Amino acid sequence: MATTLAAHPAAPPAEHSCPGPAPAPFGPPMTRCECAGLPFEDVARRMAAEGLPAEQAVRRTGCGQNCEACLPDLLRYLASAAVAEPAGRR
Ligand code: FES
Repeated sequence: MATTLAAHPAAPPAEHSCPGPAPAPFGPPMTRCECAGLPFEDVARRMAAEGLPAEQAVRRTGCGQNCEACLPDLLRYLASAAVAEPAGRR
């Protein structure tokens, strides 16, 4: 006789809502927005050239606006690009 997971004696109660640890990243980070067809370095270049904050550069390029799969990696990439090229050195 098969036992469903919910009916298993070790299963947590249905109202259990512990979110647990954050999921580990899956695979290498993305380096381009597939929906917009742009590499992250193009977004970083535009951000530097126009003196835009990351969020505005993202909005203007359309990256991270469709499926949003690239958004976490894109924002990390732009944050490290901004650190690598401080505002006074553009
Ligand atoms: S991959 Fe960037 S929005 Fe879909």
